[in-house]
Order: sequence, then C-alpha cells, then structure tokens
Amino acid sequence: MKILVTGGAGFIGGNFVHYMLKEHPDYDILCVDKLTYAGNMETLAPVMDNPHFKFVKADIADRDAIFNIFREEKPDIVVNFAAESHVDRSIEDPGIFLKTNILGTQVMMDACREYGITRYHQVSTDEVYGDLPLDRPDLFFTEETPIHTSSPYSASKASADLLVLAYHRTFSLPVTISRCSNNYGPYHFPEKLIPLMIANALNDKPLPVYGTGENVRDWLYVEDHCRAIDLIIHKGKVGEVYNIGGHNEMANIDIVKIICKELGKPESLITYVTDRKGHDMRYAIDPTKIHNELGWLPETMFKDGIKKTIQWYLDNRQWWENIINGEYKDYYKKMYEGR
Ligand code: NAD
Ligand code: DAU
Repeated sequence: MKILVTGGAGFIGGNFVHYMLKEHPDYDILCVDKLTYAGNMETLAPVMDNPHFKFVKADIADRDAIFNIFREEKPDIVVNFAAESHVDRSIEDPGIFLKTNILGTQVMMDACREYGITRYHQVSTDEVYGDLPLDRPDLFFTEETPIHTSSPYSASKASADLLVLAYHRTFSLPVTISRCSNNYGPYHFPEKLIPLMIANALNDKPLPVYGTGENVRDWLYVEDHCRAIDLIIHKGKVGEVYNIGGHNEMANIDIVKIICKELGKPESLITYVTDRKGHDMRYAIDPTKIHNELGWLPETMFKDGIKKTIQWYLDNRQWWENIINGEYKDYYKKMYEGR
C-alpha cells in the first residue's frame, strides 16, 4: 500500500506522516510538499531515514510535476492536506489560496483520474459551514449544514469540497471528505492561536487577543484527527463527508489564560487588539456520523492535550525559535505592530 500525502511538511500532514508510519509500518508513505513558509523539513527529520518514507518537493498546482510523480510512484491512496491554511493571511492576500486550495485540488484529482487510485481523500475544515451564534449552544455543524463561508480561506476550502463531490458524481472518482474542527499539538506553526501564545508567553511578549476574546473554537488534539482520517480512508464510504470534532468548545480568552497558568506567566501579558475582519464567532462540530459509522471518538482530552502540547514546545524550542527568528519576523510586524 502506497499513500501519497500532500502537505506533509506542515502541521497536521506532518503529524499524519508520523502517525501512519507508526500505525502501518508496512505502508509506503510518499510526501509531496511545496515547502511554503508553513512547510518545514525539521518536522519530517525523525522519519527521513525510514525506508518506507520518501519526500518529493512539488507544488500540487503544477500539473506536469504532479502527473510525473503519479506516473513514477503509482500511489494507491491520496490524502490531500496541502493548502494555504491561515485565515489572517487569506484576508491580506486571497490569490494564492484560490490557486493552491482550489486549482491544486483539481490537479490532484485529475492525476488520480489519469493514473487510477482506490481513494482520494480531501482534508477539509469546519470553516466551510460559516459560524454559529454564541447564544445558541444547542446548535452544531452536521454534514447537512449548508456551506456558508466567511473568509477567502474558507471560501477556497468550500470550493474545493464542491469540486471533489463533483468529480465523484461526474467521473465516479472514489472520494471522501473530512471536515475537522481546530487542531492543536506538536509542530503547529506559531502564527496560529495556541503556538503563538505559547511562544510569546515564553518570551514574555504581549499575548494579542482579537476583539473581546469571546470567540469559541472546538479544539481537537491533532493525533485524534489523524486517527479519524486513517479510519475514513480504510472504512469510510465513498462519496461521503465526515465531520470530525470532540465537543471541546472553548473561548479564546480562556485558552490564553490556561497557557499563562501552565507556564507561570502573568495574565497582564494579555493585550486586546483590533478584531479579525469577518471574524467567525463559534465553531462546534456534531461528530455523530463518524462515531456511529466508524466508531471514532477522541482519545485525548483538552486538559491533557494542552499540557502535552506545552511540554512539546518547551522540549523543542529550537524547532519554533528557528521559525520565529526567520521571515516570520516581518509577518509578525505587519500583522501585529500598532494593531
Ligand atoms: P499548514 O499551513 O501547517 O501546512 C500546510 C502544508 O501544505 C505546508 O507544509 C505547505 O508547505 C504545504 N503546501 C502549501 N501549498 C502547497 C502547494 N501548492 N503544493 C504543495 N504543498 C503545499 O496547514 P495545517 O494546519 O497542517 O492544515 C492542513 C490541512 O488541514 C489544510 O488543508 C487545512 O485546510 C486543513 N485543516 C486544518 C485545521 C487546523 O486546525 N490547522 C483544521 C481543519 C482542517
Ligand atoms: O476550524 C478549523 C480551522 O482552524 C482551520 O481550517 C484553519 O486552517 C486553522 O488555521 C484554524 O482557523 P482559526 O482561524 O480558527 O485558527 P487561528 O489559530 O488563526 O485562530 C483561532 C482563534 O484565535 C480565532 O478566533 C482568532 C483568534 N486569534 C488568533 C490569533 C493568531 C487571536 O485572538 N489572536 C491571534 O493572534
């Protein structure tokens, strides 16, 4: 069995590569990644010597490069993680989101049609459903919730989902889609809430909370997401969408306070800054379908997962310091200075 994993040098794709090599030591894992600012070979360093692992640098939107890879490697299953993934960057510059997230998905599926695969899996997001109000805790996203996007990022992911379902209906491509809530864990790029707050707190820098900090996200430990995708590609029904989430809703401000407490840092570091444009209020997944059909349940509770995550950032300082001392400095200045 050969699995082509795109975006494997990023946060979730990297964790998925580690997870699959551990859970299926006889599988071959081929990682294809463009190595954008978010791709990091340090994340793959622990598996580079594994004879069942191979890395190829390529852009999923580069048709010739992707077709060559399929011709040479003949993967059985494709899991497409590769994407521009940061909402704030999509507000600054939407173009690359449309190219990678929509056209890149098209190229990957065209290659699947040309060379044949047993499954194409699209890693999508709960953001395709838009948001829920804070005063209706009884509402959750199900797979039937209408697509209703807020940011250029979520619009690009929703467009890709529609295209994936169209390729299934029109060309009978054997696809599945998963829509997961916010992940956290090791190798998370420090532009996202949890790793950014950990890194800033450790450096005694201000902790920039957007708006009032009341926005709610539904957090899932990254390994639970990886296990769900492993189940879907092996046992999920072709043509189906599966929501993934563990009923762990938390307001941003509460997350930041937990991080301060765990690191012994004062809450006076918290600084309220101008809100994100179009900021989604609340995400909350109903995971009934994946639980009933595939038996999936999250294994890591937030109280344990956040401790493990913070410990990972303490133990792997070099990994994130290399990032924040590079071109990230310019990004941080542009997004946060005077905000
Ligand atoms: P990430 O930004 O950490 O990593 C993205 C990876 O994709 C990087 O390694 C990057 O180099 C690579 N990449 C980007 N453009 C590429 C291209 N054109 N060709 C090849 N590789 C390219 O992202 P992440 O947080 O790991 O998210 C992975 C996937 O999961 C995305 O599709 C995202 O939409 C989805 N998702 C993320 C979350 C989350 O909480 N992070 C939740 C649900 C779904
Ligand atoms: O829900 C799944 C999505 O989760 C994925 O599809 C995206 O790829 C992923 O980036 C994530 O999107 P969010 O926008 O929810 O994640 P982010 O970490 O950027 O922000 C989480 C919340 O924290 C959000 O309400 C904005 C807020 N925030 C974020 C940053 C970076 C702050 O208050 N301050 C910050 O500095």
